[in-house]
Amino acid sequence: MPVRALFPTLIYSARLQGAGTMALNRELLKETRQIRAHDLAGRKWSVRRYPGGYTSYGSLCHLQKMSSTFAILERKLRRHVNAYVRALELDMTGRSLAMTDCWVNVMGRQVVHGLHLHPLATLSGTYYVQTPRGCAGLKVEDPRLDRFMAAPPRRTDGRAENQPWVTIPAQAGHVVLFESWLRHEVPPNPAAGERVSISFNYNWF
Ligand code: NI
Repeated sequence: MPVRALFPTLIYSARLQGAGTMALNRELLKETRQIRAHDLAGRKWSVRRYPGGYTSYGSLCHLQKMSSTFAILERKLRRHVNAYVRALELDMTGRSLAMTDCWVNVMGRQVVHGLHLHPLATLSGTYYVQTPRGCAGLKVEDPRLDRFMAAPPRRTDGRAENQPWVTIPAQAGHVVLFESWLRHEVPPNPAAGERVSISFNYNWF
């Protein structure tokens, strides 16, 4: 084909580790519940901005510095971030990417996290702790969508890279990384039981 793809949007998705995931997730889940129980400010913050769910984004968003379990997660994420940086071919000579924010999210049935991006961050991502069967995935949007004036729709049976939205399934023990400018959302969660994830930002300045 005399056609090539330029300016790709790269999404990274992998298992966090080979073994020990169950034990780590058990501990992360326990701490998430403790954090939620003690975080009155966060529960209040979530009432209006995360209806029906709980996020510590507005109250406790440096969990990697507050908890040794979250610090372990940060260490385990490092090689994934490094691999993603290599795939993106970011020139990090003399520069370093550091985790700046880390927070928890708990979504019950029908809880939504509307379309957004992560300003003031370079790379963002999520680690899935508990994902009930059939729970909502992470829906990402083609960043060029606002320029597609008068464009016909895409064939729905086409390749993922040609779709305006792609949903990455949420799988416990997996990490997803994306560039922070990429708009994303969690559609209404159809699953009963709590979908628990840990989100984070990395920045280089
Ligand atoms: Ni987000």
